[in-house]
Amino acid sequence: MPEEPQKKNHLQELVNDLTAIASPLQAYLEQLHSTYQPLRDGAVASYIPELARADPNWFAICIVTVDGQVYKVGDYEQEFTIQSASKPFVYGLALEDHGRDFVVSKVGVEPTGEAFNAIVLDEHSNRPYNPMVNAGAIATAGLIKGSNPAERMNRLLEMFCCYTGRDIRLDVSVFVSERTTGDRNRAIAYLMRNFGMLAGELDESLELYFQQCSLLVNCHDLGVMAATLANDGVNPITGTRAVHADYVQDMLSVMYTCGMYDFSGEWAYRVGMPAKSGVGGGIIAVAPNRLGIGVFSPLLDRRGNSVRGVQVCTDLSQEFGLHAFNTHADDSRFRAALSGRLP
Ligand code: DON
Repeated sequence: MPEEPQKKNHLQELVNDLTAIASPLQAYLEQLHSTYQPLRDGAVASYIPELARADPNWFAICIVTVDGQVYKVGDYEQEFTIQSASKPFVYGLALEDHGRDFVVSKVGVEPTGEAFNAIVLDEHSNRPYNPMVNAGAIATAGLIKGSNPAERMNRLLEMFCCYTGRDIRLDVSVFVSERTTGDRNRAIAYLMRNFGMLAGELDESLELYFQQCSLLVNCHDLGVMAATLANDGVNPITGTRAVHADYVQDMLSVMYTCGMYDFSGEWAYRVGMPAKSGVGGGIIAVAPNRLGIGVFSPLLDRRGNSVRGVQVCTDLSQEFGLHAFNTHADDSRFRAALSGRLP
């Protein structure tokens, strides 16, 4: 009799877990976690009152390979709001809805070198500079297709489910807090509307943006989402396609140049992976065709990037030669770390 698919999945998960436990990569992650757990630099975000409730001790790392191996340590089940780490994924959906040329005519792809909430547009084209800063993300939210706000929100939720492989829900208190304190984002939206650069209704675009920021994920989700981008848009755990393969390159490009705000240049130089951070403390980083990294720790530096997250990604990049331009990368350390499963 053929094995039931569900049983087979559980068995595969068990084999994967056992492989991960015995792996040198797992041991390395545990060591990294204990090295940076005592780090107390930075502060939890407080400009949105609900975010100030985060525990500064929370810290998790999760690596997911493109063949579906999962390595994780720390508080990887602790939920937190995805915040700006949602931006590349919503950008991917806007690209699917309208195609590259139209989207680029509305939202540029140029880094700003300024804070994520800067009230600034490109003075020649009046476009927001890129989809990773608030202006570009609000304009991108306005591009999401749907006949009413509920339909647009449901499309976002379905998309995030494909990336994470599980149901995603809204943190209502964070959403209300975002909305109550969102005047700066409103100012950005009015400026864009003034220049005719906001496709949807102003209030609906803002509302969807506040909602996408307030979705609850955990660090395991971030690892799987990053691995989905590393795997050409297919979730390596579920086998579900989350985004059309044509647009993964666009998403990774803006993450590479603009994903870490006014730290993006230094990040590209030192870490060399497309990435995105959020003020909830999450970072996703992608090593294309190899793996995705999720890190979660809510202590943020002055630019809004997780302090422990930046350290962890820097170390992982150096240890395993994950920098995109590391032309002499010796893959053998990485392969060996994956428990000898690869030749
Ligand atoms: O727009 C805001 O204020 C936030 N809800 C999202 C900001 C965010 O995560 C920026 N990131 N580092």
